[in-house]
Amino acid sequence: MPGAIYAEGLVKTFGKVRALDGVDLDVPEGTVLGLLGPNGAGKTTAVRVLTTLLQPDRGTAVVAGIDVLKHPDAVRRSIGLSGQFAAVDEYLTGRENLTMVGRLYQMGGRAAKARATELLERFHLTDAGDRPAKTYSGGMRRRLDLAAALVVSPPVMFMDEPTTGLDPRNRQQLWEVIQELVAGGTTLLLTTQYLEEADHLAHDICVVDHGRVIARGTSDELKARTGGERVEVVVHAAEHIGTADEVLRGFGKGASKIEQHTRKITVPVTGGAKLLAEVIRELDVRGVEIDDIGLRRPTLDDVFISLTGHAAETAEGNGGDGDGDGKDRDGKDRDGKDRDGGDTAEGGEDGNGKPGDGDGGATAAGDAPAGRRSAAGKGQRR
Ligand SMILES: Nc1ncnc2c1ncn2[C@@H]1O[C@H](COP(=O)(O)OP(=O)(O)OP(=O)(O)O)[C@@H](O)[C@H]1O
Ligand SMILES: [Mg+2]
Repeated sequence: MPGAIYAEGLVKTFGKVRALDGVDLDVPEGTVLGLLGPNGAGKTTAVRVLTTLLQPDRGTAVVAGIDVLKHPDAVRRSIGLSGQFAAVDEYLTGRENLTMVGRLYQMGGRAAKARATELLERFHLTDAGDRPAKTYSGGMRRRLDLAAALVVSPPVMFMDEPTTGLDPRNRQQLWEVIQELVAGGTTLLLTTQYLEEADHLAHDICVVDHGRVIARGTSDELKARTGGERVEVVVHAAEHIGTADEVLRGFGKGASKIEQHTRKITVPVTGGAKLLAEVIRELDVRGVEIDDIGLRRPTLDDVFISLTGHAAETAEGNGGDGDGDGKDRDGKDRDGKDRDGGDTAEGGEDGNGKPGDGDGGATAAGDAPAGRRSAAGKGQRR
């Protein structure tokens, strides 16, 4: 039986870019699927198709048992969405934003207010709750947007990079909220660029690259393919790189990686802290002075190297601005069309939604990391 989120052969092209190139997904009810991939991999496109905001060129999708293409309205009633770009009303306060969502979902006034208070508390926004959202920091908007997605508890939730832009404490808290949600039976699809996050939250992980699923499995399965943990050593002097590399390869379970400019050598290992102590001893015996040494878990980059033989590349050559999301900094495509200009087939599909319609709302572009604009004020369908 297909799961709560099911997709087969999804294809979506934007001009020459195949944003989705035959994606199959199956998320059993009550589980979390992590869609893991670099900038431009197709994560947001997949979320937009599954949440009825974008029509695929080919393929089928069924969410909460309902055909996404045939009955989009019914699907929208069964899902919650927290998009990549926080969609809050700038001029309303945090409390008003949340109350409004409750009212849209037909909650009574008192119930909507109570729910808003509860969520403000849960997302540490109580103090800021009565200020207009336009005075919020990026992380606060993000949290408000996530709170809004949780006003009602839909059976199926989509979160597009929910923790991007959150500081470590807020990230941890959000992880807890997500875990509670899933313990309560919600099915969740979340996208992320962090293996650690997918590892922590997701039952199953799909690694996506250039619109294709290049690997899928549990986090343990992926890590096993990736060769588990890494020992990372920074040597004090460049002339010791060769000796240190020799030592590390002796302990390693796969190819070592040398970064000349940072004098860093990395190798996959099994054996944990005990092994680390042995590596330190051996480096000492060989006279290698080290600045730093540590054991770390594999990152998305490590997964990519072991799966594809190369590091995760952003989608350059897709007409991007170098941040790999294929969008120019002002949120327009290279040819100057609005982000959604390429989606002519959708007609009015986006309604007021237009996530990423990329006008002047993308104010935080300047100092935001690649692709992390906050287009606050952009509505989205819930
Ligand atoms: N509306 C659009 N018009 C033209 N190209 C688009 C549009 N939406 C997405 N693309 C392109 O499709 C590809 C996949 O984009 P998508 O936003 O799905 O990536 P992503 O995995 O979400 O990346 P990120 O991590 O940067 O959010 C990119 O090359 C992007 O430039
Ligand atoms: Mg995205």
